[in-house]
Amino acid sequence: MLLPDELQRLNVAQPLVIADRTIANLPQVLELLRALKHAFPRAHVFDGCVPEPPIETALDAITFGRRIAADGVVAIGGGSNLDVGKITATVLRHGGSPRDYFGFDVVPGPILPLIAMPTTAGTGSEVSHAAVLTDSIAETKVSTLSRWLRPNVAIVDPALTDSCPPTVTAHSGIDTLVHAIEAVTNRDFSEMTEVDPQARAYEGSYPLTQLIGGEAIRLVGRFLVRAYRQPNDSEARDGMALAAMLAGMAFSNSGVALVHALEYPIGGLTHCSHGEGNGLLLPHVMRFNLPECTESMAQVASWLGCKPIGLSSVATADAAIAAVVELTQAVGIRARLSELGLKRERIPTVAHRAFQIKRLMDVNPRRPTELDLVNILEKAF
Ligand SMILES: NC(=O)c1ccc[n+]([C@@H]2O[C@H](COP(=O)([O-])OP(=O)(O)OC[C@H]3O[C@@H](n4cnc5c(N)ncnc54)[C@H](O)[C@@H]3O)[C@@H](O)[C@H]2O)c1
Ligand SMILES: [Zn+2]
Repeated sequence: MLLPDELQRLNVAQPLVIADRTIANLPQVLELLRALKHAFPRAHVFDGCVPEPPIETALDAITFGRRIAADGVVAIGGGSNLDVGKITATVLRHGGSPRDYFGFDVVPGPILPLIAMPTTAGTGSEVSHAAVLTDSIAETKVSTLSRWLRPNVAIVDPALTDSCPPTVTAHSGIDTLVHAIEAVTNRDFSEMTEVDPQARAYEGSYPLTQLIGGEAIRLVGRFLVRAYRQPNDSEARDGMALAAMLAGMAFSNSGVALVHALEYPIGGLTHCSHGEGNGLLLPHVMRFNLPECTESMAQVASWLGCKPIGLSSVATADAAIAAVVELTQAVGIRARLSELGLKRERIPTVAHRAFQIKRLMDVNPRRPTELDLVNILEKAF
């Protein structure tokens, strides 16, 4: 079996499996854990992860990992579990606490060997350099970004996503779409001259982004609704697993941007799922960004299967927004921030917190003011 072999190759003797109760009890995972226990009698399972995990969940996993003297981490689950796995592997290797590593390029070197097995399609965390936790005190999401956070091995088995309920399929699949659209429409790397290359969490868009991000968009357009309606449609699950991974590669190099910047404080305040918050915001941000990325937005339209409209790329770019609205509606993403439980009077707070996330503002195709963010949020309310 691949997992024990890979752990051996990484010289792990006492693996810590990071999961949640649902995942740890899926028939396929139970079988996997049995095989793992057979090969590694000192393997232990932490099943205390929760969606959109607070820092405290990572602290629990770290305490558990210290107690069993783990020397490697296997993270199985959606992005929430994979990210707890990344932070746990970081703190077990370098000490301190999760807060010590927030931000870009703070992790000082390799973390414990880490294998990621996604069960959603998805966040792309299995190939990304990011881990996201919820800071309940600051009421926002907080990211750790470091090259050392890319897992040593990603085992991507689309069959693990078959058991996703439709809502999880929809929300995580829309997150994939947002990753790919933000990556391909972001500023071109050659224009980002004002940002110190050493301090860049993201490089901006470049030719490879269009190849892998474009393919991710095409796959989501073709397969997300099918996977949502028919959970056992294996062709659709395969397509979405590939899309998630490609989009993870695209965004972790070229960046996510304004959609994510707005979702982080909204998620912190409302505890909506990351994917739904993103999906709701996406068309509004695309509309705002369109004047500065008309050509790449027109490309998005074609990847989503829209025919070119007339000779002007503006009309075709508009069609991309309409296609995104249709797709998000087809998979049940709610349309208004008020429906997520956001209070109107918190809009300035959300705009302010989002505006502070410099790495996401730097790479966005159109440079917003804080007031622009308020206006976008009002339209989405
Ligand atoms: N690190 C990154 O690069 C990155 C990128 C985007 C998002 N994220 C983060 O990832 C998190 C969201 O992850 P997600 O969308 O994958 O969802 P998730 O991990 O939060 O999972 C949502 C729910 O789905 C269940 N679930 C997952 N897979 C299942 C399966 N196969 N069968 C049945 N139930 C299943 C989980 O148990 C959980 O209850 C957020 O915290 C977000 O901020 C991280
Ligand atoms: Zn995301």
